[in-house]
Amino acid sequence: MGKLGASSDYSFTADYVRSFIDKESVRRQSNKVLHGHPSPLHWKPLETPMEELLDERAGYGMKTRHEVNLYVGTPFCIKTKPARCGFCLFPSEDYEGNKGVEAYLDYLKREFDMYKPFYSGDTLSSIYFGGGTPNLYRPEHYGRLMGYVDDLYGGVPSDIEITLEGIPQLFNEEKIKAISEAGFNRVSMGVQQLNDELIKYSGRRQTRAQVFSALENCQKYNLANSLDLIYGWPEQTMDNMLDDLKTAVDAGVHHITHYELNVAGRSDFAAPSKRALLPSIETNIEMYHASKEFLLGAGFEQITVYDWRRKPEEGEGERLSSYDYEHNLHDFVGKSDEPGETTVQQMCGIGFAAVNFHPNSIDPNDRNWVYMNQTSLKNYCEDIDAGKFPVSRGFMYNHHDIKLVWLFQSMQTMKINFVDYMNIFNENLLDSHSEIWEELDRRGWISVGESELSFVGTGQYYIPMFQSLIASKRVAEIRDARKQGLDTISVVVE
Ligand SMILES: C[S@@+](CC[C@H](N)C(=O)[O-])C[C@H]1O[C@@H](n2cnc3c(N)ncnc32)[C@H](O)[C@@H]1O
Ligand code: SF4
Repeated sequence: MGKLGASSDYSFTADYVRSFIDKESVRRQSNKVLHGHPSPLHWKPLETPMEELLDERAGYGMKTRHEVNLYVGTPFCIKTKPARCGFCLFPSEDYEGNKGVEAYLDYLKREFDMYKPFYSGDTLSSIYFGGGTPNLYRPEHYGRLMGYVDDLYGGVPSDIEITLEGIPQLFNEEKIKAISEAGFNRVSMGVQQLNDELIKYSGRRQTRAQVFSALENCQKYNLANSLDLIYGWPEQTMDNMLDDLKTAVDAGVHHITHYELNVAGRSDFAAPSKRALLPSIETNIEMYHASKEFLLGAGFEQITVYDWRRKPEEGEGERLSSYDYEHNLHDFVGKSDEPGETTVQQMCGIGFAAVNFHPNSIDPNDRNWVYMNQTSLKNYCEDIDAGKFPVSRGFMYNHHDIKLVWLFQSMQTMKINFVDYMNIFNENLLDSHSEIWEELDRRGWISVGESELSFVGTGQYYIPMFQSLIASKRVAEIRDARKQGLDTISVVVE
């Protein structure tokens, strides 16, 4: 494999920034839910064997403290017409009955065991069981799943957030009881629409009444709850959106993720007949502002572009409305209690389509990477049968990528602390991307304070576009390198 030229220039001219924004601000952005750098489209099979990578990670762990946010993947979803709920861009497999689930759980256990030599000494900060639809499991399965974690890490800390994701109609009382008894303390429910007519576009057999019933079950068993809602849905009006938010708030939900519909790929909602029913971008911007005004007025606090937490009442405890699994990663480089030691938050993923994000160290000479497990159940099982880690592809970051990943995470929170950035990367962010900040300031989309740059007004709505902008030169470089068969990691940055 060849190497790219001696150094790369990732700076922008004022013209480049202006024309990028003029062109992109009138298009639908497509990195709204998965806002990583670079997109998995640019990942490829890793050249270093997994065992070697994991040993290397352990070596870095000797000088940088690693804290782990564990993700456990579930492939299955109930079949819908249109497929994949019409809008979903996540990998999944059709649920064909409990036999397939049992077989998967056995494979999953085998993958947990493969990580024993590498992950068993790690410290867990949060756990998230996502999918797919993890509440398709039967009540007896939840204890078994938690047992896998317990066995790998030598215990499950009782004081961390442990979330299980699912769809409302499957959170019946028997399951919620089993979920709570197994040690989960938080449920994330994908509701999308509370309106019984609008939800039909997804082909899901889901009713508003089932959402209330699931929430009551959570309350009865003392599980924190979060609701996913989507705006920009086919035929959704401002009134529909506000009615859903008000209903969720009145029902006492602790946390709301309010995503803008991401329209992409071969999903049914991306077909011309459905696109014609989508609110315009201008309407979506109005929806963003109206939802913000409503939720702030209802006592919610905005944590990221799309997630909202109810401010805890006295004596209620912070845990109920937090979303540690996601938030820990927003600021993944921190100071440890030990003087001079750095901590990094990592994401370790086990199971179907799970992602492992290993920022091992911020030393420019060290290696950092991300990889994703197989997104087809057949390949996942075949790899495990062959004694291999079921990894499909990944990406080796260069030092500039790590800065971009950090900036992407920070931008999700609608602000960037440039003093932290300087302390971590020894670089003045306001100088290194001055053309971007000047243009955003001119448009009234940022305000710059003593230590923080904050996105304001419609600038918040456009954060996915700014993420694409700031990464655009590097992404073009990655794309070109792949075309020429060059090694993307070998680029010398500074
Ligand atoms: C991977 S799904 C899994 C949760 C669960 N299976 C469900 O559907 O409710 C997690 C969340 O991602 C969001 N999501 C998935 N595809 C999306 C899209 N195209 N646009 C916006 N949000 C999306 C939905 O709000 C969904 O609840
Ligand atoms: S939205 Fe949820 S239930 Fe629907 S296909 Fe995606 S992961 Fe499955």
